[in-house]
Amino acid sequence: MPVINQRGAGAHLAVERWQLTDTLPRMSEEANKSGPEPLDLAGRHIVLGLSGGIACYKSAELCRGLIKAGATVQVVMTESALQFITSATMQALSGRPVFTNQWDDREPNGMAHINLSRDADAILIAPCSADFIARLTQGRADELLSLMCLARPIDRVPLLIAPAMNREMYAHPATQRNLVQLVADGGVVLGVGTGFQACGETGDGRMLEPAELLEDIIAFFTPKVLAGQRVLVTAGPTYEAIDPVRGITNLSSGKMGFAIARAAREAGADVTLIAGPVSLPTPRGVNRIDVKSASNMLSAVMGRAQLATVFIATAAVADWRPATSSSQKIKKDGSGQSPQLQFIENADILATVAQSVAAQTGQLYCVGFAAESHDLLENAQAKRLRKQVPLLVGNIGPDTFGQDHNALLLIDAQGCLELTRDSKLVLARRLIQEIAHRVTATALPHLRASP
Ligand code: CTP
Repeated sequence: MPVINQRGAGAHLAVERWQLTDTLPRMSEEANKSGPEPLDLAGRHIVLGLSGGIACYKSAELCRGLIKAGATVQVVMTESALQFITSATMQALSGRPVFTNQWDDREPNGMAHINLSRDADAILIAPCSADFIARLTQGRADELLSLMCLARPIDRVPLLIAPAMNREMYAHPATQRNLVQLVADGGVVLGVGTGFQACGETGDGRMLEPAELLEDIIAFFTPKVLAGQRVLVTAGPTYEAIDPVRGITNLSSGKMGFAIARAAREAGADVTLIAGPVSLPTPRGVNRIDVKSASNMLSAVMGRAQLATVFIATAAVADWRPATSSSQKIKKDGSGQSPQLQFIENADILATVAQSVAAQTGQLYCVGFAAESHDLLENAQAKRLRKQVPLLVGNIGPDTFGQDHNALLLIDAQGCLELTRDSKLVLARRLIQEIAHRVTATALPHLRASP
């Protein structure tokens, strides 16, 4: 029974020493069900400020999302916000009395504007109206929310805003000027959505959806271990057409690759995700390119690999494609004979990138995956050597394809590291830390990506 080596004392993450039987332990049905959401904001205290705007209805869900992610939330509302949603709703969702008035005497010292921000990890204004943005840039202090923002310890309590307004108001030079000023004053603008607005017009200025804001806030708090890196990720299956209505694909859901793209962006990288046919939402801030076949994926990757500093090949690329693809649907001819399909092997995208000058000279760090059904360690070790990549991540395909959970076995020249079963997002974040650790440890100063 071989024993997998634990990495040295300098290993970046907690490692479990484990004994290898013949494969990674199979996941039980129970273990593969989605567990509770990870508490990404555990221990964080967020002051959620609402200014006036119809987007206040989204703030209720945002508040709930923050709480579900483990944060404590203190809501502060302006008079205008109270026209759109009641403080009772926000109190029920946050589990704390809401503050709306600078003369509120519930605070023993009568200084809600000071006390509320002192233990905050961030103040998030969502929605942040055009008027409130203007007030922030002018340093106004005639009502509780703007007064509290002005009185916050500026180097310790970040101010994040989610603008929400009509498209003309958003595009107006005054608003754009104020946003530039707000950023110059140290504020963080989380961007706006585009689409149908409550006023009936369509354009930029909607408040981002609660789930998008939550993703941005979690990313905001994530240490930027990949800052300055340009990460290229492949994800999902490929689809090899037999005729216009049929093709060959596999059970990969793309969830692992999408989680890796999200985790890399959270860690500060500039991320491009090349995705096979899947219907997953694009992670926030990630540049996504959709492809269908293995050859499409190869062209998309080769066109971008020379700009990347890290390449993570998560995709389950089809090994073969039909030698010919009929332009018309292949019909039954009544003879009972099935069509005879010939196959051609697809190019190995990972191996091709790993052979490039950038990868061979250490400017591009390549990470491969191995989807195996058995003998994970042996197969993954052999695959790492065959594909000539510094790091290969093994997993048991049938146990993870389409699932929300996985278990990973990281193999590099130093040994192996098991990341035990967890949600794909949690594993992706741990993998990104491992990659960052190796990229920073191995890169020569002149090979590091410029910030
Ligand atoms: N890969 C690739 N291009 C291919 C096949 C695989 O880039 N044509 C990449 C995958 O994205 C993964 C790694 O190579 O990072 C290993 O893929 P896997 O399907 O596990 O192995 P194969 O190379 O296809 O070998 P085998 O099917 O024999 O296990």
